[in-house]
Amino acid sequence: MDLRHLKYFIAVAEEKNFTRASERLFIAQPPLSRSIQQLEEELGVSLIERGSRPIELTDAGEFFYAHAQALLNKSSELKSMTQRVGRISKALSIGFVASTLYGKLPKIIRLYRTRYSNVELNLVEMSTMDQLSALKDGRIDVGFGRVRHEDPNIRRIVLREEKLICTVPVDHRLCALNRPLKASDLAEENLIIFPKNPRPSFADQVLDGLRARAVQPKKIIEVRDLQIAIGLVAAGEGVSIVPRSLEGLKRDDVVYLELNENHSISPIIFSARSMDRSPEIQDLLSLIYDIYDEEGIPHTKETL
Ligand code: BEZ
Repeated sequence: MDLRHLKYFIAVAEEKNFTRASERLFIAQPPLSRSIQQLEEELGVSLIERGSRPIELTDAGEFFYAHAQALLNKSSELKSMTQRVGRISKALSIGFVASTLYGKLPKIIRLYRTRYSNVELNLVEMSTMDQLSALKDGRIDVGFGRVRHEDPNIRRIVLREEKLICTVPVDHRLCALNRPLKASDLAEENLIIFPKNPRPSFADQVLDGLRARAVQPKKIIEVRDLQIAIGLVAAGEGVSIVPRSLEGLKRDDVVYLELNENHSISPIIFSARSMDRSPEIQDLLSLIYDIYDEEGIPHTKETL
């Protein structure tokens, strides 16, 4: 049994159809069917219920599917980790969600470059969900995101919880309240959320927070990124809930207002491959904690 067999079987199990699976794998259908047959012969059990349309897995097939997926993930992690260990020059590729650029990310990168000038840093903007696949296939080594998501192959550390605030146009009626906003203050407003895709994203944290308080904004406007959200707020299209670090984005046409709900928070989450204990990553984590300590920012202190 080789990894190709596992990959083919997973495609059939997920597509529930040989034609779609062969299209997904970019191979013809006969070699795909042969490969599944060989796999069943080798295992001595049926993995697919004969004659089922759409395809249904037998109990053995369900068991094999669950474990084959985990094995494939491990093999791609093993591949990227081996390549990483074998690299002569040290390098670290970091995926980040755009909002972290308004938090401590620029300072972290500057300090890391000063302290570890022998390590080549690459920065790539990507959503939290894209960071997971990029970590698994070795395109990045570390991700900084905001969405909580469990995956056995990814080590995740919530670095800190950041408070959320509300941004409104400079002449908006909510500015006159002169007090922190309640979620219910937003019920009459158009709410601009980001990023629209991929989901789940920061947008869902904002929506879940309002839903938990039974608040339904007048209209939800989904946009690609936070720059567009702030621009639309400035244009008077609505209000937007953003991480507090966005206050650093100074504009004279929007105002940032406090939200009084103490659970209006968004985590900043560090992710790396579970197997990866490389010194470059450990150093990065300690440097982040150093900055937090120096600036008196409350944080967790988990290690790899
Ligand atoms: C922060 O703002 O705390 C932060 C941002 C990016 C990476 C790590 C931490």
